[in-house]
Amino acid sequence: MRKVVVTREVFKETIDFLRIHFDVTSNQDDRSYSRDELLSIVSEAEGIQTAGSDQVNDEFLDAAPQVKIIANTAVGYNNIDVQACLRRGVVVTNTPGVLDECVADYALGLMISACRRIGEGERYLRSGQWKAFYFKQMLGLDIHGATLGLIGFGRIGQAIARRANGFGMRVLYHTRSRVCEAVENDLHATHVDKSQLLEESDVVMLILPYTKDTHHIIGERELSQMKSRSVLVNIARGGIVDDAALIKALRDKTIFAAGLDVYEGEPQLNPEFLELENVVLSPHIGSASEPTRRAMAMTAAKNLVAVLANNEAPINPVNPT
Ligand code: GLV
Repeated sequence: MRKVVVTREVFKETIDFLRIHFDVTSNQDDRSYSRDELLSIVSEAEGIQTAGSDQVNDEFLDAAPQVKIIANTAVGYNNIDVQACLRRGVVVTNTPGVLDECVADYALGLMISACRRIGEGERYLRSGQWKAFYFKQMLGLDIHGATLGLIGFGRIGQAIARRANGFGMRVLYHTRSRVCEAVENDLHATHVDKSQLLEESDVVMLILPYTKDTHHIIGERELSQMKSRSVLVNIARGGIVDDAALIKALRDKTIFAAGLDVYEGEPQLNPEFLELENVVLSPHIGSASEPTRRAMAMTAAKNLVAVLANNEAPINPVNPT
């Protein structure tokens, strides 16, 4: 039987499904492998179900000389050197589609928390500081009637826009190429350039892949273009935002607040974030509802089965091999 490795804990049904087809080594104790351990575990694998936290590069591929497919259990794949895989004929797959609605729900949650100061309010209450009612206490920003600027407008961005319509928000978006008019009309979304989006939005939300072209596309200059009572939400990837510049903007209150699910260098994050009240911080859990994580794990497994067991084309290829 072909050998498959699952690098992090998933769900039992996924492992059971893989075991029908493969000899499976799975990390169901969910130990955080050292790099050396990980490299030794994949040495005989023909298929590897990776997590977004596994770095798949030449070193990894050298350690897995039999590998034919890397099935990443995430829609993003910036943890994978796709070109290095391509050079070796290794198929890379991801999990698009199954997490769109879940991430869109979460994006709205972060937006509301940042605008309405929910985290700050909870910290205040839990620390016993709430002694009286103050009419002007913790005044936040309205969501209804506000302008949402989406940088990135793929499936998840569009799912967010649909929700924003329900809140009575005006929706702007910026992408390299416009989506078709029917989608724009359906979502009441207007394509604008990046500067207009930054200048007019009350909430700027990032939902685009992290690549060398999107590194620090929100830095000091872009933050200075945003309104002083605006909010930045990043549910895409660390590295798209220059975190040091964001910390400065939050500290100087040149923007109102931020809602962040991702960070440069995560799981380490700049400790200065922790000192700020006007930022909502979560540990990269945008797609972490139980049904969605189950669906993501099965999607990755089905790609392994298609390619390795059935000799079929991958269901969700990210590289043409
Ligand atoms: C989560 O961040 C994903 O890319 O699926």
